Amino acid sequence: MEEISQEFIIELYKHPQNFGTIEDAQYKAQIYNTTCGDAITIFIKVKDGIIEDAKFMGKGCAISQASSSLFTGFLIGKKLDELKNIDKDEVLKLLKIDLSKNPTRMKCALLPLDAMRKALNFE
Ligand code: FES
Repeated sequence: MEEISQEFIIELYKHPQNFGTIEDAQYKAQIYNTTCGDAITIFIKVKDGIIEDAKFMGKGCAISQASSSLFTGFLIGKKLDELKNIDKDEVLKLLKIDLSKNPTRMKCALLPLDAMRKALNFE
C-alpha cells in the first residue's frame, strides 16, 4: 500500500496537474515552507461563487508538488463558502499517505492548504 502511494506521488511530481498561472485569478498567494525555503503560489478563479479554476506554480519536493496537484484539482467545482471548512485531513486523504509521524513532510503536504487560506484571507 505504501509503495503504491509513493509511486502515485512520484508520478504527480513528474507530471504535475494544474501547474501554471491563471492571469485573471481573483485570489492568489505565495507561501513558503520555512523549513526548506521552497515556495508555491496558488491561483484561484471564482465564478458565481464556484471555483472555476485553480492552479499552482513553484517548486518543492515530491510531496509538496503532488499535494498541490491534487489539492488544486480538488478545489475546482467547490463553492467558495465550502473552502473555509477544508482542513488538513482533506489534504492527507487526497495524498493517501500517513504523515502523522513526520511533521517535516506534513508541512510540505499542507503548503497548498496554507496557500489557499492565505489567498482567501482565512485565518
Ligand atoms: Fe521543500 Fe518539501 S522539502 S516543500
